[in-house]
Amino acid sequence: MCGIVGAIAQRNVIEILVEGLRRLEYRGYDSAGVAVVDNSARLKVQKTPGKVAALEGLLATDPVYGKLGIAHTRWATHGVPNEVNAHPHVSGEIAVVHNGIIENHNELRVFLQGEGYVFESETDTEVIGHLIHHLVQQTGNLVDAVAMAVSRFDGAYALAVVSSDDPEVLVGVRHGSPLVLGVGIEENFLASDQMALRQVTDRFVFLEEDDLVEIRREGFVIRNGSGEIVQRTVTRLTDNSDAVGKGPYRHYMIKEIYEQPAALQATFQGRITDKRVIPEALGLGAADLLQRAEHIHIVACGTSYHAGMVARYWIEAWAGIPCQVEVASEYRYRKVVVPANTLFVSISQSGETADTLAALRSGAGDGYLGSLTICNVPNSSLVRESDLALMTAAGAEIGVASTKAFTTQLVALQIFAIALAKYRGLPQAEEQELVQALHLLPDLCRQVLELDPLIEATFESYVEKQHALFLGRGEQFPIALEGALKLKEVSYIHAEAYPAGELKHGPLALVDDHMPVVAVAPTNELLEKLKSNLHEVQARGGKLYVFADSKAGFKNEDGFTLINLPHMPKSLEPILYTIPLQLLAYHVAVMKGTDVDQPRNLAKSVTVE
Ligand code: M6R
Repeated sequence: MCGIVGAIAQRNVIEILVEGLRRLEYRGYDSAGVAVVDNSARLKVQKTPGKVAALEGLLATDPVYGKLGIAHTRWATHGVPNEVNAHPHVSGEIAVVHNGIIENHNELRVFLQGEGYVFESETDTEVIGHLIHHLVQQTGNLVDAVAMAVSRFDGAYALAVVSSDDPEVLVGVRHGSPLVLGVGIEENFLASDQMALRQVTDRFVFLEEDDLVEIRREGFVIRNGSGEIVQRTVTRLTDNSDAVGKGPYRHYMIKEIYEQPAALQATFQGRITDKRVIPEALGLGAADLLQRAEHIHIVACGTSYHAGMVARYWIEAWAGIPCQVEVASEYRYRKVVVPANTLFVSISQSGETADTLAALRSGAGDGYLGSLTICNVPNSSLVRESDLALMTAAGAEIGVASTKAFTTQLVALQIFAIALAKYRGLPQAEEQELVQALHLLPDLCRQVLELDPLIEATFESYVEKQHALFLGRGEQFPIALEGALKLKEVSYIHAEAYPAGELKHGPLALVDDHMPVVAVAPTNELLEKLKSNLHEVQARGGKLYVFADSKAGFKNEDGFTLINLPHMPKSLEPILYTIPLQLLAYHVAVMKGTDVDQPRNLAKSVTVE
């Protein structure tokens, strides 16, 4: 996924820009570039396909210097990864780098061609540079030209813009893609992620939606979307944001559980606008594959397999496409019938899981339309060997138990399902409702995390337990499976999950007053059915622990412990009901004194069969 760095200083900024790009490498990209305004007010650009190291090689043989500059790592969406399509894009004295998608770029391209502009690249970004250049002729001012230009864009974007005609200003603007201002002493910076700037400052302004910032060495001015000058808080980050440190947390698992609001947001940002999903943001060629797909085969292991099970409900309900989900270790050894126009989808945090990789390879000869991987590690084997990669933005996950990787997979899969549905007549109003729900996710996630102390206290009694049952219906059945997997892997308590309707077909025989039963019970169309199943448990003396919202009509009573979650859109229920189950497993494991981050017998990345 693309990355932006910008700097204006009293010193040469090249090293700051390149180090910033290095720090964004984890996001995945396929070309890199830099533009500086040199001391003679000339624009100097270096860009190349490939890695930041290739850009450094270029800069070593043909160095550029300047006290104002912008840099970019590009993850191709419109146009192949080559030098011409790499950012920065230049129009006359203007250079621009861009994250996101300009959806109306075709229309703007036609307009600008009419104004005499000649296009060199296949990117949507090139219209940005030319439009700003065109508007500077009218306004005589870079900042006003950028403000006028963005009012003509549809889509999601974060931009950094410089002009050799004005070497004293760096301009940034955001809409639907993150952008952060780094505050220094007599120097200031811009980036798509504060991680890129931690080597030069610890003070940041997290720009708000539609903010436009005019940055000079001695200060900055921020205007909101209405053009009014606004004050934004400068935040000093004192945490150890180093991904391999635990910061204030006792274990990686709990640190990673708490990172979920930011990870979820980072996964949807730039891929959705206020109203719709941007299919091109799923990668170069994605729109074409999504339109042609008539069947989906999802293959994964463990937690990633559970994410696939949830996605099946979404894909079949919203897109009306048949979807099959299978564990990779089974899939790889059987003869699979592949109907025409089937898309192969693998899901993996690591991108290196041996069975999933073998399944992708064995499927390669089976006539699939193409392959997509939902993955968290750029340049992993699955990413390299799949036709398309939809990256989750969970950041490094170190605890063996998958937490933020799972919930970010669900976000990526939800965007994938909406994009599929969009090509099959999903009404615009429904798409908008689903997308608006996604925007609520980070805040709702924070609210759910506030239940942490209550969950810790409630599940103290589990330390003594040998077994537990987890129940759910519909999309919550895979969440029950995930809850049971979390509990067993970190606390070593035997846990099983069932679709609640299956209880009376066998597992009810296990229920007595020693058996704790956890149920995930959001208020949806299956709630009344689930309530009947819970009565079956209560009638046999089972101890119920129910996660529900206040509208469900449950109350605490003997043998029935209720934990209330906020009411939420149905599409978010599987994502948010996972979080209390992660906390439950974590606290029980800590109370039992297990090796939470590295449970016995398990590895983070299962690269052998
Ligand atoms: O890296 P992957 O997502 O492909 O790993 C698959 C499973 O090994 C993994 O999800 C495992 O089940 C989790 N670490 C359990 O929390």
